This record gives sequence, structure tokens and C-alpha cells, in this order.
Amino acid sequence: MLENQLLKIAEDFGSPVYVYDAEKIEAQYNRLTNAFSGVKKLKLNYAVKALSNISILKLFNKLGSGIDTVSLQEIELGLKAGFKPQQIIFTPNGVSLAEIEEAAKLGVEINIDNLSILEQFGTKHPNIPVCIRINPHIMAGGNANISVGHIDSKFGISIHQIPHILRIVENTGMTINGIHMHTGSDILDIEVFLYASEILFDTAKQFKNLDFIDFGSGFKVPYKEGDIETNIEELGKKLTAKFNAFCKEYGKDLTLAFEPGKFLVSESGYFLTKVNAVKQTTSTVFAQVDSGFNHLIRPMFYGSHHDIINISNPNGSERFYTVVGYICETDTFGSNRRIKEISEGDVLCFKNAGAYCFSMASNYNSRFRPAEVLWYNNEAHLIRKRETFDDIIKNQIEVDFSEKKEKELAK
Ligand SMILES: Cc1ncc(COP(=O)(O)O)c(C=O)c1O
Repeated sequence: MLENQLLKIAEDFGSPVYVYDAEKIEAQYNRLTNAFSGVKKLKLNYAVKALSNISILKLFNKLGSGIDTVSLQEIELGLKAGFKPQQIIFTPNGVSLAEIEEAAKLGVEINIDNLSILEQFGTKHPNIPVCIRINPHIMAGGNANISVGHIDSKFGISIHQIPHILRIVENTGMTINGIHMHTGSDILDIEVFLYASEILFDTAKQFKNLDFIDFGSGFKVPYKEGDIETNIEELGKKLTAKFNAFCKEYGKDLTLAFEPGKFLVSESGYFLTKVNAVKQTTSTVFAQVDSGFNHLIRPMFYGSHHDIINISNPNGSERFYTVVGYICETDTFGSNRRIKEISEGDVLCFKNAGAYCFSMASNYNSRFRPAEVLWYNNEAHLIRKRETFDDIIKNQIEVDFSEKKEKELAK
């Protein structure tokens, strides 16, 4: 998107505001699809947790995607957005059997990552086929919080417990129709996927009724100039060859599934904030914006980098700034950044704001969550209103501490 289009959106819709470029989402979707065009049956299930606005889900539905969900509410959103239950996979972690049964009732594909739940579910519902999430014990991904396939991770059933899974399958008569893994986010090295795929193929051989193998996600996107990203095209070529060879050996054309979040939406997103104050201290110059980690937690949560540009002064000279929010804890978006000279009232644009940004936003400090806008067909569409005080107070219940009430109670 062009900077002047973003600036106009900040003027028209106010700040802070999230903006998503539909064209970029479509381009990423097509890029991934094309990279795997050599696979007979490919299924992309967009990971709803990355960005769950219903208009974004409808866009993915239009593109032909399925969705990956982690809560009943995400399933409901998906159904409301027009996805059929068969287009939805439920990959929760640490939820109750009751929640999984509820999801199964809705007719979605169930992905189980826990032996105890697998046994209970299989005993009660042997006729509902399920997928199993395998933990391949691979240390992959960026920050430790987003690396989820290693031996100490809570996710998935260990590959060393396959015999146990097979026993459960035999004892309950249940069917395993899919094998899944997700090792982490921000995986740069495609060898990780290829290595993990060997583990999955080995595992898959032990299950005779598979329909699909789901390789999860974790593709790394570029965050700044010169950043390297997962080479999707090369991965496509190499994994396609391995997958097709495996299908031949298995004797069936299985579906190859992925569930990307970041790859599909990260770069489509822009977060626009206004500078409340420029504060010179003895050590740095702070640009204080009308937002904080309540709206964009990734830098404080796991040290993520978001490029920050001043779209109000694109031709100014550069200076160094530390960009901070208004939350009453340390609330730093970026330290010592080279940004075009900032004046109070300028609009700063945070890039890569599509994935895990709005979807992780909160009302901390009793602030309103921002508006969201979709740039589609060269027009700005408001897809979520900025919250108001009614949203902050609507579920709160006031206790009557009045003297009159106290007297009434004392009677
Ligand atoms: C099971 C699962 N699948 C897919 C994703 C999406 O990962 P990414 O956004 O890195 O593509 C996640 C992210 O946490 C996940 O936990």
C-alpha cells in the first residue's frame, strides 16, 4: 500500500488503526499454492489465531482456503464466515474433552495432541476419525515462546509414544485419518521442514487409514530490509518430491496440508498511530504514540521487530528515536530506530502488523481496542469499529455499596 493511502485512512478513521491489504493476502495465498502446484491434493488452512476478523475469514473463504482453529469461538467465527465444517480443523492444546466433543458435534476435523484425551475420545466416539498431533522433538523456530516442537514443549504427542497411540487405536477401534506437526514459528531453514517430514512419513506408515498429512506452519516472513524469509518455492519443490514419493509408497494420494498464519497475513498489515509527544531526555529522544502493548504486544512479549516509518514526513531527514507507548509499564516498540524526523501529531506506521497483532490486543489500562480497516479494490472498508466506553463496561456488574443498601442488609 502507498504511504499516502495509509495517511488518508488515519485521517478518515482516526488513530490508532489497523489496516490490512487484501491484495497482499491474496498474493501470499497464491504464492504458497503455486509453490505446491505439483501436489495432487493441497489444502491450506489459514490459522485463524493470527488475525480473526470475520471479513478476513470471508476473504480466505473466497480464496478457497480452509481454516485452522484453536477454540470453539474460532470455529463459530469460521462457520459464520461461510466455511463448511469439513473445511475447518480444530487444533487445540490443553482443552477439555467436553470442548473437543463440542467441536466434533459441529462436524469439524479434530486434531488431538494428548494421549489421555485420545483414549477418552476414542472410547466414547470410535466412529469419528481424528488427526493426531505429533511432537517430532525438533528445536525449530524463532523466540523460545514460539518454538513448540521440541522435547520440553507441551504440544503434541511424542514420536516415542507412537506404540501407545497404536494401542489406543486398536483397543478403541477408532480411526486416525491425519497426522500433524507444527514445530514452531519463524523457521528459516527449509531443512527443518524436510527433516521433520521424514519423521512424519515414518510415523504415517504406521497408520493405514490416513487422508492427509499436515505439516503445520512456521514460515518466516521478512521483518526488515535485507531480512531473509523461508524459501517457499524451494521448499515447495523439495517437499513436493518427497510427498509424492511417499504417497506412491503409501498407495494413496493423500492431501498435503499446511496451516499458515504469519505467512498469509503478516505483511498485509499496517498499524497506524499518532505521536502524542516527542520527549528529549538525557539519553534518547522518545516518540510517544497513542497506543501501547495493549494494542501491539509482540515487541514486549517476544522481542519481535516491526519496522516503524513516519508517513507524515516521508522526505524528512533521519534521526534516532525510541518509540514507546502510553502503558504504565515499560512499553517499548522499538529502540534507537532511524526514522524520518518526527513532530507531534505525525502518523507512525508499524509494518508486519497483520499477524498476532490485533488478535492479541487487550483493554489493558481500560483503553479501547483500535478500529480495523480492510483495503480492498482500492477502497478502505471499516471492518471493526473502534471500541467505546460501552465495550469496557458492558459485562461489569456494580455492587451497591450505598448506606441504604448496607442498612437493608443489616436488617
Ligand atoms: C498449531 C499451529 N498451527 C499453525 C500456527 C501458525 O503459525 P504461523 O503463524 O507461524 O504460520 C500456529 C501458531 O502458533 C500453531 O500453533
